[in-house]
Amino acid sequence: MIAIVACDAKWGIGCDGKLQQRVSADLRRFKALTWGKVVIYGRNTLDTFPGGKPLPGRLNIVLRRRKECNLDHCEYVCSVDELMQRLRLLKRKGYGDDDFVVIGGAMVYRQLLPYCDTVHVTQFAEAYEADCYFPDLDASPEWYLDSYGQWLKEKGVRFRYMVYRRHAIA
Ligand SMILES: NC(=O)c1ccc[n+]([C@@H]2O[C@H](COP(=O)([O-])OP(=O)(O)OC[C@H]3O[C@@H](n4cnc5c(N)ncnc54)[C@H](OP(=O)(O)O)[C@@H]3O)[C@@H](O)[C@H]2O)c1
Repeated sequence: MIAIVACDAKWGIGCDGKLQQRVSADLRRFKALTWGKVVIYGRNTLDTFPGGKPLPGRLNIVLRRRKECNLDHCEYVCSVDELMQRLRLLKRKGYGDDDFVVIGGAMVYRQLLPYCDTVHVTQFAEAYEADCYFPDLDASPEWYLDSYGQWLKEKGVRFRYMVYRRHAIA
C-alpha cells in the first residue's frame, strides 16, 4: 500500500475541511499516480470532492462508520478490518500492493500509514494555517527520504515532489 499527500512545511494538510493550496500541476500528478487504481480515503475527504462525488477512473473505497450502499466504482467499509478483507479479495482479482493508494485525510492517514511502504509527498515550501496534519516522516526512524525533485513554482506557491520509503526490517 502507498500513500499520497500534499503537506506544508510543518506537515499541515488541511484547514476548515479544505486543502491548504490547490496547485494544478500537483492535481494532474495526483490523477496520473492514482488513475486505474484503488483509492482509499475517509468520509470527510469524500465531502471535499466536487459535488461530494467519488473520483472517476478509480475504484473508490471510503471509510465510514455507518453502512452505506455501494455505488458504481465506490464502496464503503466500516472499519480497517473490513478494508483489509476487501483488499485481500481485490488482490486475488489481480491488484498489486502498489495499486492500493491511501489519499487522506488526517484520520485515515494515521490509521493506514503502518500498512504503507511508500509515501509520495508534495511539499509546499511555506507553512499555512492548518488544523490537521500528516505524521512527521522526518522525525520517524521508520522512514527515510528516498528522492526529492527541484523546487517548482505555480502562481507564487513553491513546492517539490518527494518520495519517502519505509526502512526494510533487518
Ligand atoms: N493535503 C492532502 O493531501 C489531503 C488529502 C486528503 C484530505 N486532506 C484534508 O484532510 C481533511 C480531512 O481529514 P479528516 O481527518 O478530517 O477526515 P478523513 O480522514 O478524510 O475522514 C474521517 C472520517 O472517515 C471515517 N473513518 C475514519 N476512520 C475510520 C474507521 N477506522 N472506520 C470507519 N470509518 C472511519 C469516519 O467517517 P464517519 O464520521 O462518517 O463515520 C471519519 O469521521 C480536510 O481538510 C481535507 O482537505 C488533505
